[in-house]
Amino acid sequence: MRIAWILIIGLLPVKLLAQEPVDSTQPFVVPQPVSLKNTGQPFTIDDATLIYCLQETVMPSARLLQDYLQADDSRQRKVEAKQPSTNYISLQVDSTIVPQQEGYRLQIDKDHIELTGHDVAGVIHGIQTLRQLWITTLKKTLQVPGYTIADYPRFAYRGMALDVSRHMFSVDFIKKYIDLLSLYKFNTFHWHLTDDQGWRIEIKKYPRLQSVAAWRKQTLIGHKKETPHRFDGKRYGGYYTQEEIKEVIRYATARGITIIPEIEMPGHALAALAAYPELGCTGGPYATATFWGIFDDVYCAGNDSTFTFLQNVLDEVVELFPSRYIHIGGDECLKTKWQACPKCQQRIKALALKDEHELQSYFIQRIEKHLNSKGRAIIGWDEILEGGLAPNATVMSWRGEEGGLEAARQKHAVIMTPESHLYFDYYQSLHNDEPVAAGNYTPLSKVYSYQPAATLPDSLLPYIKGVEGQAWSEYYTSEDQAGYMIFPRALALAELAWTPAALRNYEQFIKRLNWQTVVLSRLKAPYYYLYNGVECNNIIAKNGSVELTLRTNHPYATIHYTTDNSTPDWQSNWYEAPVIMKKSGVLKAQVIEGRHNQPLGRMYQQVVTIHKAVGAQVTLKNQPLPRWNPGKEVLVNGIAGHHRYNDAQWLGFSGDNLEAVIDLGTSQAINTIGLNLLNYHWQRIWAPVVLNIEVSEDGEQYKKVYTQKNFPVNGINKIRTSVKGVKARYVKVTGVNKGIIPVGEYGAGGKALLMIDEIIVN
Ligand code: ACM
Ligand code: ZN
Repeated sequence: MRIAWILIIGLLPVKLLAQEPVDSTQPFVVPQPVSLKNTGQPFTIDDATLIYCLQETVMPSARLLQDYLQADDSRQRKVEAKQPSTNYISLQVDSTIVPQQEGYRLQIDKDHIELTGHDVAGVIHGIQTLRQLWITTLKKTLQVPGYTIADYPRFAYRGMALDVSRHMFSVDFIKKYIDLLSLYKFNTFHWHLTDDQGWRIEIKKYPRLQSVAAWRKQTLIGHKKETPHRFDGKRYGGYYTQEEIKEVIRYATARGITIIPEIEMPGHALAALAAYPELGCTGGPYATATFWGIFDDVYCAGNDSTFTFLQNVLDEVVELFPSRYIHIGGDECLKTKWQACPKCQQRIKALALKDEHELQSYFIQRIEKHLNSKGRAIIGWDEILEGGLAPNATVMSWRGEEGGLEAARQKHAVIMTPESHLYFDYYQSLHNDEPVAAGNYTPLSKVYSYQPAATLPDSLLPYIKGVEGQAWSEYYTSEDQAGYMIFPRALALAELAWTPAALRNYEQFIKRLNWQTVVLSRLKAPYYYLYNGVECNNIIAKNGSVELTLRTNHPYATIHYTTDNSTPDWQSNWYEAPVIMKKSGVLKAQVIEGRHNQPLGRMYQQVVTIHKAVGAQVTLKNQPLPRWNPGKEVLVNGIAGHHRYNDAQWLGFSGDNLEAVIDLGTSQAINTIGLNLLNYHWQRIWAPVVLNIEVSEDGEQYKKVYTQKNFPVNGINKIRTSVKGVKARYVKVTGVNKGIIPVGEYGAGGKALLMIDEIIVN
């Protein structure tokens, strides 16, 4: 796998280079600067080039530039406090020249470069622009094309997270990640340090966090939905020492990156409970989690020792981290144990709280008060709105934007990180060969298209401080895989975080991105290099045929396709308009780089099944959940949904029954009826309690032709039944929803999701 990557990573830029010379009017900078003017003459950074810096506060940035240059050509340039007459790069802070916070101005002339920042952060952003320029120019000697650039950020908060609990990453990897964040003008690294599956920060007062909470017995293999669960049998864990954390903070500070640590509470606390069971409602015993999900054992909110523990932990955290903000989690805290706990119930009674949501609010507010007293402020996930928001809290809106919008209405600061667009643990391609990921589908184009708080009135926009991308590591089984999932989606986020909305343009971004792959390769950063492959972005069934719309990001390549099962090459059909499939078959398509007849990326394949119901009228009695409703037409569009069910082919009914009627238009002889149902109890997806298929000639009198009550397959249950030439115009499929998920099952007490796709009539 790794070798193949390097080969492809190596090939791509060279090929681009061969055909597209450096565009002298557009540098390949990401994020796109606010304003740039080509001034003609490039500046060559040679052995004699000096770095000129007079201000003490800017000296660390001068050394950073020195290090970056040396990393690239192994030569060390001198930093001077005396202005050279020529051949120098000057760095300075001057907020009268650059009025915008974190802004910078770069003037590149033939004999010198002048970089002025509003502040040190601005100087660092300017250095990163320079670095991108000299790498993408790709000269033997370092060269920077002549531009005047004036640049500043759209949002004050530009973050990327990393979960190190589910999988841990080396200090070297964390540093590389931070350097990449700085390269793309992020200013915040949100370090998710504790969770059910492992506690990763050394806390000296509580040694069992190191000896117990940092470790789990074993780790789940494959996706959580696959049952029976399989485990690797290997003890897994570790933690960052306080010395390592200080070193990472120093490294980040030099790069303009603030690190916000996250200590999760009151939920996602199983690892801590394993070490100190007296902090849980039942007293345990508990074990650090070995698989992914939400667990109902959480910190006891009725027990004062819980707060003593967390305050002591936070006291060490604030000693280490200079960040004004401390993330205290607050998400996905199940209330089942609190409901049954005498201490929690006593607290509710004593404080006259309404319910367990108000108890959670009490919990967060008590912690907020402690942190506020230390001069720090809290950030919490949007669940902290439930039961009342803590007075000074910033809300990180992840379950869509609604929590963030509500917090803004309550005049609280907001960071938008909706899972619909900014969760980089989700699949970025629907290709079969994609390594296992968390579930949903978030291609690069979707990240780029995100418009934060577009519906918020202008008066409330100042409360939207910025955006953040999430990198949950359940399925980041290696550092390479983490990089593959995060980049280049993080570049799309960087541009939406930095560049004014009016200057963003996806096609243009892709052209620049193709050059940024040179930068990523040079820095030996793993990334998803297949973003130029074929995507299918529309499927329409009509008149018994299926029309598929394909696209590629690649600006200079074409798509070629076949429908006869042969492998497409440059002589196959050239894709110019949507492909219309009138017969069952496989559509295979490939991006081909024209001049070299070179296939780029993976081959796209889609099985299309033409049957009597393709394009037929569908009537639904109940509506699917909006998130699982790509349109009722998908039930009869000739495309069967994938077991990953992220392909917009499945309808999902939450708690409600399924009742679908297919109108074939005319009464006709039918021999078989089929449909697919999903069963993944570990994803709260339950096949129906009973499925019935009925047929009718007039749409009023129905005759039952099939009933099924057991669905033994964990995954896609393919129902195929023979009806031996029965005459019918209407086919009705009903499924009784499991309803409330029973006790002992994952998601107990919540609504079951009934998921169905392709109803096949022949
Ligand atoms: C989250 O994804 N649970 C914040
Ligand atoms: Zn309790």
